[in-house]
Amino acid sequence: MKLNTLPRVRLANLPTPLQELPNLTKALKGPRIFVKRDDLTGLAFGGNKTRKLEYLMGEAVQQKADCIVTHAGFHSNWLTQTAAAARKLGMKIFMIKTGPQDGYEPEEFDGNHLLHFLAGASMKVVRPEKVAAAVEETAAELRAAGHRPFVLQEMGSTPPGVAAYVNFFIELTAQTAELGLSFDYLLHTTGAGGTQAGLIIGAKAFHTGIKVIGSTSGSRTAAEQTPFVFNLIQESLKFMAMDVRIAEEDIVIYDRYAGGYGYATEKKAEAVKMLAELEGLFLDPVYTASSMACLIDLARKGFFKKDETVLFLHTGGSAALFAYKEPLRAYGQGKKIPWTVPSWSPDRR
Ligand SMILES: Cc1ncc(COP(=O)(O)O)c(C=O)c1O
Repeated sequence: MKLNTLPRVRLANLPTPLQELPNLTKALKGPRIFVKRDDLTGLAFGGNKTRKLEYLMGEAVQQKADCIVTHAGFHSNWLTQTAAAARKLGMKIFMIKTGPQDGYEPEEFDGNHLLHFLAGASMKVVRPEKVAAAVEETAAELRAAGHRPFVLQEMGSTPPGVAAYVNFFIELTAQTAELGLSFDYLLHTTGAGGTQAGLIIGAKAFHTGIKVIGSTSGSRTAAEQTPFVFNLIQESLKFMAMDVRIAEEDIVIYDRYAGGYGYATEKKAEAVKMLAELEGLFLDPVYTASSMACLIDLARKGFFKKDETVLFLHTGGSAALFAYKEPLRAYGQGKKIPWTVPSWSPDRR
């Protein structure tokens, strides 16, 4: 197994805290719920990308890169975390963002977009179908100008990023042993799939018995996301030289809670408001709100047994809350939410 010999830079404050959520447990009348605070990784505003970036930037540093080129959605947490990691390591950052049209400029600088701007990122906005070409073109221009760009694809959901969430289980196992806990389920949000791939490999490789459940962040169905995660798992096992048997049946995905990528929905607003009021815990409106909405719904439907324990993985992203102030305010005041599809979404054409 190559897990301990992969190139890595230190970016995260680890271990992240493992905390109980007693008020949520009481409100849902069981199961016993805990949260793993990967929103407190300590880079920028925290999140799952910090763990992945330790390995991804480890490769970039090993290859003596002097700048990073990457791509994602307009208000992406991945872009925020990558910008922070690049800056910390003395590199420039070039972002290709998706938007409703090429060259889209928002009326307000808010949420993650403001953070990208503050980090001095160079940003280009294009329609999703033009992203691959724009990434190649940007990297080629940088090479021609004498730079050594390192391209990061798929929101870090590539084998080195997956390795980070396999490694996560070494940390979690030590914490659960110390606290005398064992978990039956781990709920998290699955987007590009790297976190889920790592969690599934890690849960099995370290014989934890934990069932990993992913709730989607976008419009992909479970049937579409499953083979995607499965292929990433197989590719990552090869990369890490690990011999673990994982079948498609080990991949559990719920696709009912996101609406669409970045969409504001009542289910997600309820999850954000409930956790803030009950536990003083701030989720994000795009990712963690989806898996928390899933957890709440499954608990209400009696999916979990009262004596079972559930771990919720807070993967960060709370900076995006401020770009959702209108729907969150309306939901909290008992009014109809004013918009579902955000102005920056490519679905807005
Ligand atoms: C806050 C947050 N949670 C979860 C995810 C999904 O992680 P993955 O891309 O590994 O599926 C992301 C991805 O951007 C994210 O920003």
